[in-house]
Amino acid sequence: MEEKVVTSKGGVLAWSMKKKILVFGSAAIVALGLGLGLGLGLGLKHHDNDGDAGQDDTGSSDGGGNHNRSTTDANTTVTWQPAVGIKWQIKLLDPLNDTSIDAPVYDIDLFDNPKSTISELQSLGRKVICYFSAGTYEDWRDDADEFKKSDLGSNLGEWPGEKWVNTNSTTVRKIMKERLDLAVTKGCDGVDPDNIDAYDNKNGLGLTEVDAINYVNWLASEAHDRGLSVGLKNGGDIIDSVIDNMQWSVNEQCAEEEECDTYSAFIDAKKPVFHIEYPKGDDTNNNKNVTTKEKKAACNADGSDDFSTVIKNMDLDNWVQYC
Ligand SMILES: *[C@@H]1O[C@H](CO)[C@@H](O)[C@H](O)[C@H]1NC(C)=O
Ligand SMILES: *[C@@H]1O[C@H](CO)[C@@H](O)[C@H](O)[C@H]1NC(C)=O
Ligand SMILES: *[C@@H]1O[C@H](CO)[C@@H](O)[C@H](O)[C@H]1NC(C)=O
Ligand SMILES: *[C@@H]1O[C@H](CO)[C@@H](O)[C@H](O)[C@H]1NC(C)=O
Ligand SMILES: *[C@@H]1O[C@H](CO)[C@@H](O)[C@H](O)[C@H]1NC(C)=O
Repeated sequence: MEEKVVTSKGGVLAWSMKKKILVFGSAAIVALGLGLGLGLGLGLKHHDNDGDAGQDDTGSSDGGGNHNRSTTDANTTVTWQPAVGIKWQIKLLDPLNDTSIDAPVYDIDLFDNPKSTISELQSLGRKVICYFSAGTYEDWRDDADEFKKSDLGSNLGEWPGEKWVNTNSTTVRKIMKERLDLAVTKGCDGVDPDNIDAYDNKNGLGLTEVDAINYVNWLASEAHDRGLSVGLKNGGDIIDSVIDNMQWSVNEQCAEEEECDTYSAFIDAKKPVFHIEYPKGDDTNNNKNVTTKEKKAACNADGSDDFSTVIKNMDLDNWVQYC
């Protein structure tokens, strides 16, 4: 796999745009929430108390085990298994404010969206996947203070305020369990844990593929224990070792990077691939459809048969084009 950090239009840079915007977006929301009005500058480091589940999960194993597990986890109760080819929408920029896209699956930010948005989508017959970063520290999140300095690794390239975390750490796993509890509190049907592929990046912690396999399978087990479905975000190298525990794949830019056939393993396993392409590149976010040629490249890539493809702006706003 190529080193994503250096890919000019690759996944990492792609997300950086979104993250930058999220930093400022969240700051604005927090400031509003606290009624700070003029205190925008201070808002950045403040955290609201939105949906703090505040529970400590006991009885689940932590860290440790270095298993390359390819079998199904102990709790095989999967409440929701979406079908191959199902239509979806992903909107991570700001809280969702447009539910008009007629798609049975929405992927939205866990922290930024209130329970009422999730309930509203569900009342329209939709399932909701809640996005959070499972493999990085983001200094603007509500629970950022809970991370230990010693668990933080390298900065993520151009992403301000974001660092890789030691996914072996009991503290990190406790935070992630609390995030899963928050997903339950908010009524999410599933979760989209991002940034599990530290092994593919300069993480500064020595995290390997085997560590990622162990972590992703642990996340799956914790999600399933809570009645949440879960998918693998990117992470093409570890598919074989986690796919049994995943209900879907979320992939960015496999058409652009010519690796959709890697992710077609999910289709073979009767699990959807939620696939995003960004033909407009890093800097153009508008409401215009892409060219016929760009659409073809995004929609007809080798190995992408039956993928649930969306063409999106890099900032992951409301705008979407389907194949
Ligand atoms: C949703 O919010 C965006 C800003 O994030 C704004 O540009 C857009 O007009 C809003 N859409 C609706 C339907 O309110
Ligand atoms: C994580 O824990 C496993 C099992 O103890 C160990 O083999 C691995 O080296 C650890 N990884 C890191 C980055 O500390
Ligand atoms: C498995 O998950 C279900 C659904 O959340 C839960 O009710 C059950 O207690 C779990 N079983 C075990 C053994 O953890
Ligand atoms: C883990 O095990 C699976 C299945 O045996 C194998 O295909 C995969 O290459 C292994 N991964 C690692 C990182 O060892
Ligand atoms: C843009 O593409 C969508 C399909 O996602 C289509 O329904 C719509 O008509 C197109 N709009 C224009 C202006 O061509």
